[in-house]
Amino acid sequence: MKRFIIRGGRPLRGEVKISGAKNAALPLLFATLMLPGTSRLHGVPDIGDVRVALSILTAYGARIEREGDSLIVNTEHVRDIIPPREAVTAIRASTYLLGASLARFGHAWIQPFGGCHFADRPIDLHLAAAQAFGARQVGEELHAVRLRGVTHAFPLVSVGATVNALLLAAAAEGESLITGAAEEPHVTALIAFLQSGGADIRPVGRGAYRVAGRPLHGGEATVIPDMIEAVTYLLTAPMTGGDVIVTDVDPTQLAAPLSLLERSGVRVAYAPSSLRACGRATRPIDLYTYPYPGFPTDLHPPFAALLSQCGGRICEQVFPERFGYLNGLSSFGLRYSRSGPVATLSPSLLHAARAVATDLRGGAALLLAALHAHGQSEIDGAETVLRGYAALPEKLTHLGADILLADIP
Ligand code: EPZ
Repeated sequence: MKRFIIRGGRPLRGEVKISGAKNAALPLLFATLMLPGTSRLHGVPDIGDVRVALSILTAYGARIEREGDSLIVNTEHVRDIIPPREAVTAIRASTYLLGASLARFGHAWIQPFGGCHFADRPIDLHLAAAQAFGARQVGEELHAVRLRGVTHAFPLVSVGATVNALLLAAAAEGESLITGAAEEPHVTALIAFLQSGGADIRPVGRGAYRVAGRPLHGGEATVIPDMIEAVTYLLTAPMTGGDVIVTDVDPTQLAAPLSLLERSGVRVAYAPSSLRACGRATRPIDLYTYPYPGFPTDLHPPFAALLSQCGGRICEQVFPERFGYLNGLSSFGLRYSRSGPVATLSPSLLHAARAVATDLRGGAALLLAALHAHGQSEIDGAETVLRGYAALPEKLTHLGADILLADIP
């Protein structure tokens, strides 16, 4: 296990370059499995979940070369296998094998997919989409002699199930209409990548896509910047009384969290591809998570660290159970109450503490508290946070943080 050792209470100042988004890179990687030929992916972040995804693709027989921060993925000779269970259960994005493997081989394995265990992570919407496109479930397997275009309306917005429905529709014979789907920037980016691989996919309104099955081939894409990483680093400014600039970002994707950040009293400066934050959070805010373009659920835990300063309420409408990290924040002195999907946080005097990161974004919240609190804090389970934040110790050190990453027995 790995431990962050942080001496907090120092203002963080400076500029940090945002990496490619974890949740954008992973769908692209798994989509290469269904695009026969060579795909080129640029700006792929070097993080734990990406390394796991690459190990799965290699197991299928994909040939992968890294050229700088680009990956060249050749899937010409991939073959249908039982994917390595340990890797599949390590990340949630392995759910995309359902769509990619059915599209390529007409067959897929249903395994215990992984991901942060902050809530129940069902796959019923994924399986319903697969069956709608013609797959049949037999035990732990999905079989599809042929995938056929359909109209599929999601009863609930699901990023992952939207990814699988797009993969299936792109390979299906005939026309599909998908409605009630997610429209996160990383879904839009996946569509552009599939289009570069020959797919015919057109957005036709809010959360709606029309798809015509086409012969597919290798594609090319640049991974979009990680909006969750970007705002997490911006939050280090109000948490430490610092002044932080994040570059290589698209501010238009961040309207919801940035407007809340400003409402809390933090000053935010906008530029075409960078953002700057300074000043403290002094005014209470109410935060409601919602699918894009709403407030991203993945920023709920990092914002909880901010609300330890200004107070406010969090209403978690995507993963109503996603509050386990609050126990860790209470070790730092956070005072809160919770009723179902709503938590009320009181302005609290935080102190250094020891805590355990139990999930990726909850771990980021603990880090923000440790950077704020004077004295030495320790956060175990640091590897959980490194799953989704590229070069995190280096980037925080560059901003002036006193942080060490230690291996512990
Ligand atoms: C993706 O998870 C992200 N993970 C999550 O980020 C993110 O929080 C989530 O989307 C929402 O934006 C990756 O991209 C790898 P969902 P996903 O399907 O696809 C319910 C992070 O920290 N649901 O959009 O699993 C589900 O329980 C991670 O980077 C079903 O009921 O999320 C939830 O309430 C954490 N049945 C809602 O839909 C299903 O079959 C949204 O989940 C699938 C989902």
